[in-house]
Parts: sequence; structure tokens; C-alpha cells
Amino acid sequence: METTTLGTHGPSVPPLAVGAMYFGTLVDERTAHAVLDAALDTGATFVDTANNYAFWVDGGTGDESERTLRAWFAARPGARDRVTLATKVGARPRPGGTSVADGLGLGAQAVRTQLDDSLRRLGTDHVDLLYAHVDDTSVPLAETVGALQDEVRRGRARAIGCSNITAPRFAEALRAAGPGPAYAVVQQRFSYLTPVPGTDLYPHVLLDDDLAEVADAAGATLTGYSSLLSGAYTRSDRALPDGYRHRGTATQLAALAEASRVTGLDAGQVVLAWMTSRTRPVLPVVGVSSPDQLASAVRAVGTRLPADVVTALDAARTVGP
Ligand SMILES: NC(=O)c1ccc[n+]([C@@H]2O[C@H](COP(=O)([O-])OP(=O)(O)OC[C@H]3O[C@@H](n4cnc5c(N)ncnc54)[C@H](OP(=O)(O)O)[C@@H]3O)[C@@H](O)[C@H]2O)c1
Repeated sequence: METTTLGTHGPSVPPLAVGAMYFGTLVDERTAHAVLDAALDTGATFVDTANNYAFWVDGGTGDESERTLRAWFAARPGARDRVTLATKVGARPRPGGTSVADGLGLGAQAVRTQLDDSLRRLGTDHVDLLYAHVDDTSVPLAETVGALQDEVRRGRARAIGCSNITAPRFAEALRAAGPGPAYAVVQQRFSYLTPVPGTDLYPHVLLDDDLAEVADAAGATLTGYSSLLSGAYTRSDRALPDGYRHRGTATQLAALAEASRVTGLDAGQVVLAWMTSRTRPVLPVVGVSSPDQLASAVRAVGTRLPADVVTALDAARTVGP
């Protein structure tokens, strides 16, 4: 697979990240390990987890995904060194808390202790990318960025990034980095279908043009999650999420269907291929629960859409609510 650099100086990664959010909860350990084995075999070696996946699932604590990765690293000697491992801190509920709104947050000490715990759960001495998971406006950005930079200096993170942030806050965070390492990656919610503006997606924040422009100017890599809308593009058992049905939806779905016809990809694959073929690419963080789903995503991001197909998709996407 072709590779791309995270930010201007970060690690080299394939054009998708394997989303490990439900590993150890909805995806049992054996299956998760089979997906990870297939990922290693195909070069899909960028893996995305967080210190709170997936506390909201019945019986979940937030430890499961990182622990499942640890077990896989232990069972596959050498695998840790072949993987670009990203985790996130800040959105794990405090003890007794039940939601991201009760999160441990992004104060300096909270960043340090959350990373201590993640490294222990992951069984590694560093991560390749450390994200601030959800913007924490209760802490000065300079404190959060400074704490993440400290982890780079200590060798516990190779690069830093952020997620679920607005364009002005992202710009402020880049300024706060000063001459030190700045956010190399920003991860936002992003798919082909657009929701009605103002739809409540909390704690998710959509990737918008303003943020993409700030990222572009800084040389930061855009990554996008929930791009498959949980499979809704191809599965009759998956409804579109609330807010994703509006005046423009039929036009957008028709454009996807036409792109499918031309390329032979299914609609979900077209979405992923469109993300990586755009003038301003967005690297998809894809949730996969089987080796087949991984193979489908790998094929999609390995397909460069013809320019006229991208243009037609872009045009239909501007038909909004
Ligand atoms: N930064 C953040 O705040 C944030 C938020 C959410 C997610 N994420 C990251 O993004 C990743 C993906 O998020 P997501 O799970 O919300 O999004 P998604 O990629 O939109 O949906 C993933 C689900 O789609 C289904 N699927 C996958 N491949 C398919 C295929 N080829 N055909 C049909 N259905 C398919 C699977 O459902 P089944 O498993 O039911 O088959 C899979 O679990 C997460 O693992 C996580 O790493 C980050």
C-alpha cells in the first residue's frame, strides 16, 4: 500500500487506520486478533484506539480495546514494532462518572496519568500518536499542548494530535505549540453524506472546511471517523443516523450509486475511496469487525477514483439540506 506521512515529520502510515473501538467488547478478542493479523499481512498497520473504548457498551470499562491490543502484541512477537499505534486521552469518565462529559480531561497531570495507564494497558513504552480526544475548554490550551509536548520529549509519544475540536481552537492550539512539536493530525467525524447543520452529534465534531484549511496551512493530516455510518451505505439492517436524511440526501446517494456503477466498488467503498482521492485527502479510521470488512476497506483505499468521478461526487455533496 502507498504510505503517507503524518503531519510534516511524523511516522509513515498506510492510507487508512484500523479502528479498534469495539475490540474486546462487541468484537471478541479472537476475532479482533484475526482482524489485526490480516491488517499486518496487508500492510494496514495504522491502528486507532483510545483509553475509553468502549466504556459505554454493557459491561465495558474503557480498558478493553487497549488490553486486546496488548494481548495481540504479546502473542505476535515483533508486531508492536510494525504497527503505528495511536491512542487518545481525555474522554475517559472519571471514577464514578458515566459519560464523556465527566471525562478525566486534558489538564497536565491528567494527560500524564492517563498515558501512564494506557501504556500499561497496551504493554508498550510509547505510542506513535497521542491524541487529545475531545477538546477540553476548562483547561488552557497551552497547558494541554505543553503536556502532550512533554510526552514527546520523554519519548512516550512520537507525534501528537487532537480530535473533536473546532477550527478556531485548533488554530489556537497550533499557536500554543510555539517552536515545539505541534498537532500533526486532527481526527474529526467525516463521511460523504452530510447531516443537517446543527444536528447534535456530541461528543463528535464534524470535519468542516474551516478546520481543513487550518490543517492544510499547518501541514497537519486529516483523519476521519464514522465514515461508513456503521455500514448504513450498504446494509438494509443499518438505518442512516439521525440528522442524515434531508432534501439533498437522495441526490448524494444517487451520486454514490453512479460512482459504484462506474468503479465496481460498493457504496461504502466509494466513500472511503473518495476520502483518499480528494484534492484534500482525509484518511479514514474504519471500524472493522472481521477480516472481510478489513479487506473491503483496504481495497477501497487502494483505489484511486478517476477525477471526473470525484468531481461528480463533490458536486452532489454540495446539495445540502
Ligand atoms: N475520535 C473520536 O471521537 C472517534 C469517534 C468514533 C470512532 N472513532 C474511531 O473510528 C473508528 C470507526 O468508527 P465507527 O465504528 O463509528 O465507524 P464506521 O467505520 O462508520 O462503522 C464501522 C462499522 O461499520 C460496519 N462495517 C465495516 N465494514 C463494513 C463493510 N465492508 N460492509 C458493511 N458494514 C461494514 C461494521 O459494523 P459491524 O461490526 O456491526 O458489522 C463496523 O463495526 C473507531 O473504531 C474508532 O477508532 C473515533
